[in-house]
Amino acid sequence: MVQRTLSIIKPDAVKKNAIGGVLKYFEDAGLRVAALKKIHLSMEEAKRFYIVHKERPFYNDLASFMSEGPVVVLVIEGEDAIARVRQIMGATNPKDAAPGTIRAAYAENIERNAVHGSDSEKSASYEIPFFFPEIEIH
Ligand code: CMP
Repeated sequence: MVQRTLSIIKPDAVKKNAIGGVLKYFEDAGLRVAALKKIHLSMEEAKRFYIVHKERPFYNDLASFMSEGPVVVLVIEGEDAIARVRQIMGATNPKDAAPGTIRAAYAENIERNAVHGSDSEKSASYEIPFFFPEIEIH
């Protein structure tokens, strides 16, 4: 099934000049970039994006990290895009990320982990319109 998923190149990876490096993993896997922009989230916007994690002990730190510098937000499209993007990213904790994944290459630790990808269709349906109106997705 062709799906769309929301991905974010996080502030740590943007600072490392790794935007092109991350995009290459997705494109080399045959997935398409359907939308893309660079933005700088406020603390409040980052909290709203990650509202599902509001009870977690790392919620404030995560929102602070995600608003410390610009990010690149992407809609990735392709066959089984939600699961495939998560595979290509690797495990949340880079210590567990398989060789050849984005997080194995670029993540620093479980929080500063270079990329985000929607974890389900339900998440994607919240996360994509959070950043992109339909008219900006191609
Ligand atoms: P992401 O895939 O964007 O989803 C939620 C984010 O919270 C995750 O990547 C990490 O950046 C962060 N995160 C998840 N678990 C932890 C944790 N145990 N400690 C700190 N940050 C975490």
